[in-house]
Amino acid sequence: MDLTREEEAILNGEEGEGMQKAMELVTALGKIYGAEDLIDITSAHLSGASYKTIGDGGLKYLEDMAAGGAKVSVPSTLNPVGMDRGRWEEMHISKEFAEKQLRIIDLYGQMGIRTTCSCTPYTGANVPSYGDHIAWAESSALSFANSYIGARTNREGGPGALAAAILGKTANYGLHLDEKRKPTVVIDAEIDGSVFSYSLLGQAVGMAIGSGVPYFRGLSPDTGVEEAKALSSAMAASGSVALWHAEGVTPEAGGFDVSGLDTIHIGEKELKAAYDKLNTVEDVQLIAIGCPHLTEKEMHQIAAFLKGKKKVNRDVEIWFCTSEEVRAKCPEDVRVMEEFGPVLADTCMVVAPIEGTFQRTGTNSAKAGNYLPTLCSQKALCRDIPVLMELVM
Ligand code: F3S
Repeated sequence: MDLTREEEAILNGEEGEGMQKAMELVTALGKIYGAEDLIDITSAHLSGASYKTIGDGGLKYLEDMAAGGAKVSVPSTLNPVGMDRGRWEEMHISKEFAEKQLRIIDLYGQMGIRTTCSCTPYTGANVPSYGDHIAWAESSALSFANSYIGARTNREGGPGALAAAILGKTANYGLHLDEKRKPTVVIDAEIDGSVFSYSLLGQAVGMAIGSGVPYFRGLSPDTGVEEAKALSSAMAASGSVALWHAEGVTPEAGGFDVSGLDTIHIGEKELKAAYDKLNTVEDVQLIAIGCPHLTEKEMHQIAAFLKGKKKVNRDVEIWFCTSEEVRAKCPEDVRVMEEFGPVLADTCMVVAPIEGTFQRTGTNSAKAGNYLPTLCSQKALCRDIPVLMELVM
């Protein structure tokens, strides 16, 4: 790789151990993926924030990085953690877990990272612009940023994104390059337009193509943030899609000639197969909504739906997951929603250690529907929000 003199100096340890470790990691990744040089980034978003996912090994790594004086050099945000910082007892979290989780957050804070802890930083805490090079982990958020905003990031892992945040640079390969952002397949989509249908569409496309850059036809020009986050998160979980384009919706879509590409139709039959894959149980102990984190608009919609209704089934717990920022902006919605269950901030059903308490969980998210069985040992039920709510009313 072509490194500048300044980058070589960092690699040689002249700027301290934290910077050196970061440079070692970023250049190692660059060599693996054939990068010719490094590129400046405008922001980072880090995963690996929950004690459940990183464990004591990850905690030790962060202790070492912080002790080595590592500091981020670009605006950086953090993914959801394993609990609501103020309400972890309501989530059946142990004191030991809580203490280690708080330590992890503290260490990230010491390195200059904003500990907002949300997987939807693009709604407020960290909003990239079109064409920005960024280093984001969190598969749903990075796909949203690549696709709906037109920023440029690879599918970073937690340590890689942290290293890039420290350096303010990442290796210049993959989706940072024009060539790799071209569509690889056309998806002719036939859906009813609900957010849930975008989630099922993403599930079906991930199942059909695995990876690549799908180019959608047939999506409404009104496809908004909520629809795009459902689609991004589902395709990133059922496959490993990190960038998609949609005719008349996403900013780069108009710039490609897709006439020579294969076309896959996703309609009723494929959506039904996606739905069947996500549903492995009928009765649940927990209903968890907010994957990715609920936006203000979704909070308003859920509160409007629940207003005046009563939760009668006390055997089923309900969690609503959002960011602290959004929760603080919606006090009236929170009041209505909390008649049904806690509105939890900065955490989620997948990165919290729910498997110690529950075995069967309902969700409206295809992403959660994929990860609840694999990362949380759950049988899952995946339905639209009103249908899930009917289970407790
Ligand atoms: Fe966010 Fe957790 Fe889903 S991090 S995307 S709510 S699995």
